[in-house]
Amino acid sequence: MLPAVQAGGAKKDCSMTKILGISGSLRRASYNGALLRAATRLMPEDATLEVASIRGIPLYDGDVEAQGIPPSVSQLKEAIIAADGVLLVTPEYNNGIPGVFKNTIDWLSRPAADSRRVFGARRFAIIGASPGGFGTIMSQAAWLPVLRTLGAQVWFGGRLMVSRAANVFDESGALKDPTVEELLRQFLAGYVSFLRATPAPP
Ligand SMILES: Cc1cc2nc3c(=O)[nH]c(=O)nc-3n(C[C@H](O)[C@H](O)[C@H](O)COP(=O)(O)O)c2cc1C
Repeated sequence: MLPAVQAGGAKKDCSMTKILGISGSLRRASYNGALLRAATRLMPEDATLEVASIRGIPLYDGDVEAQGIPPSVSQLKEAIIAADGVLLVTPEYNNGIPGVFKNTIDWLSRPAADSRRVFGARRFAIIGASPGGFGTIMSQAAWLPVLRTLGAQVWFGGRLMVSRAANVFDESGALKDPTVEELLRQFLAGYVSFLRATPAPP
């Protein structure tokens, strides 16, 4: 029997752990999108991984915010709040976080008064893929001060940096490397165990 998950005082389905996965790439043939899709079929039993997209999130503009939070941002916020955990699947640009991905998180943190509801104590995990040899090590590290600023938790029990991504996925974007597949499976199992063992945000 899994521990009951509480959110906002309401009891959720305690038998299913729900993760929301977000890829930080808009590219159709994105390796990070492919990694996230692979993760959806490698989840442990009694856990689901829903894929969310950053497509449609506008560029952050304080003048736009003053008119109201865009619906695409509000929808993503509510999807995060409804999930037990959030998996960031991050590309790396110039040894840092791609602007489009950071832009999304910046929007999600607005208005500041609502940021705690979205991020406070929420349990994040980070993976990523790149065609180079270091597999997003720098961008994964660059997320840490951002998530700390937002008051989120980050699961550090596993690491997955998929390097040489062109050899790891086939032309259709399917994961073809059995070693990476096993590492991804183990990462997801560890993250789900962590989510089940630790309290959800109040
Ligand atoms: C502006 C830019 C900067 C990049 N900088 C890095 C980098 O610092 N490290 C790295 O491993 N790859 C870098 N790359 C290559 C990306 O990892 C590669 O384009 C990758 O395919 C992006 O992720 P995606 O396949 O999910 O779209 C860069 C790509 C772009 C467009």
